[in-house]
Amino acid sequence: MNNKKIGIFVGSLRRGSFSRSIAKAAVSLSPAELEFRFINIGDLPLYNQDFDDDGQLPKSYELFRNEVAELDGFLFVTPEYNRSIPAVLKNALDVASRPYGHNVWSGKPGSIISVSPGGLGAFGANHHLRQPMGFLNILLLQQPEIYISKVASLLNEQGELVDESTRTHLKKFMDAFSEWVRVISESH
Ligand SMILES: Cc1cc2nc3c(=O)[nH]c(=O)nc-3n(C[C@H](O)[C@H](O)[C@H](O)COP(=O)(O)O)c2cc1C
Repeated sequence: MNNKKIGIFVGSLRRGSFSRSIAKAAVSLSPAELEFRFINIGDLPLYNQDFDDDGQLPKSYELFRNEVAELDGFLFVTPEYNRSIPAVLKNALDVASRPYGHNVWSGKPGSIISVSPGGLGAFGANHHLRQPMGFLNILLLQQPEIYISKVASLLNEQGELVDESTRTHLKKFMDAFSEWVRVISESH
């Protein structure tokens, strides 16, 4: 399989984001066939359909939609906000789903890693994200699932993932995602 371009979408803009640290660990543990790039979702104005209806798109929309269209797959790494996904991530999903009929997420493989300093591993965010992904026709890796809880205790001061059992679990997850990307790309 040729290397596949995978976009990473982190559902946190926070400087010291645990989710971003986990995303970096996922990249380092992933098979070489996947080539990752972090996609900036923090500069996208809140979606307003007038932009599309009037043909007056913010430049960041055009760049983002083109970027998503060029990817071979998506890795979402997200915290949970109030038992759901952070607005910045939902906004990014919405922006690249429009204008109607031009959903650039469709038909490509995706996977979700949810992250929390608490004990529930952001289960609510993980499962809420599955709802729009279904409608957007992102082909989601169903198993294994991964919910990273108590994340602060798994990282060192530099934000590196040092917990061995989580590293093993995350590596298995990334192996499965790589295999999923291969299966989808061979079926197209
Ligand atoms: C608005 C808001 C709502 C939150 N709601 C939840 C929640 O429902 N569940 C949870 O586990 N953590 C919740 N948290 C705490 C986040 O998990 C915590 O801030 C985490 O560090 C955010 O991820 P990050 O480190 O990648 O920025 C919330 C934080 C904020 C700012």
